[in-house]
Amino acid sequence: MSPQPPPPQPWTSVDDYFSDLLAPPDEALTAALRDSDTAGLPQINVTPNQGKLLHLLARTQGARRILEIGTLGGYSTIWLARALPADGRLITLEYKPEHAEVARANLARAGLDKVTEVRVGPALDSLAALGAAHAEHPAPFDFVFIDADKANNPHYVEWSLQLTRPGSLIVLDNVVRGGAVTDADDPDPAVRGTRAALDLMARHPKLSATAVQTVGAKGYDGFALARVLD
Ligand code: SAH
Ligand code: DHB
Ligand code: MG
Repeated sequence: MSPQPPPPQPWTSVDDYFSDLLAPPDEALTAALRDSDTAGLPQINVTPNQGKLLHLLARTQGARRILEIGTLGGYSTIWLARALPADGRLITLEYKPEHAEVARANLARAGLDKVTEVRVGPALDSLAALGAAHAEHPAPFDFVFIDADKANNPHYVEWSLQLTRPGSLIVLDNVVRGGAVTDADDPDPAVRGTRAALDLMARHPKLSATAVQTVGAKGYDGFALARVLD
């Protein structure tokens, strides 16, 4: 006999209920996921409810400039860019040209190509370039979403501090690592990078942070959130 699938978890149907009600898909979001899938991109985008959370946080923040580290097919990018005013700007950093290409098409279809820019390359290089530009003409980001290679998370938090202003919000994705985040001896670079980023958020005098665990359509995970202080 073939093994039975596990019974559905209650939080899956609750997440479906919440997202159908509060974060229903539209043509641009549906097409973005469909074309990402067709292009063979991994299905590691935020869920609809998480996308809506990012959108509301950016709106609440009054964000005019948003930085995203880790674009994939631009699904989270669409949610975030929709929080911007007409003259706002979002820069998103992606290592893989083939991901960036899918994201650009998805953002154009969503009518967001004027306010968004996908920069291809290792995020650390793109961040150094942003840092140099910021040193000449300061243009701080009001909101940063960190969602790329987890080993570099502490560096991404450090760069976020360089590129933001007092009152900016930094959101870090995927902080639970299946529970392994509590293990100081876990050798997984993603765990180590996430713990180092959380340590930085905890001890940095210019950051005030918390973390929330989430359950939903994509299982168990969480975000850390840090406000940049004066
Ligand atoms: N934010 C997206 C998901 C991002 S998945 C969403 O929720 O819709 C993580 C992305 O980070 C992948 O596309 C991966 O290619 C990219 N990435 C991995 N390492 C990177 C690096 N060093 N610099 C920039 N992007 C990187
Ligand atoms: C992975 C990356 C993510 O950013 C995410 O939200 C989920 C999974 C991953 O690399 O497996
Ligand atoms: Mg993520």
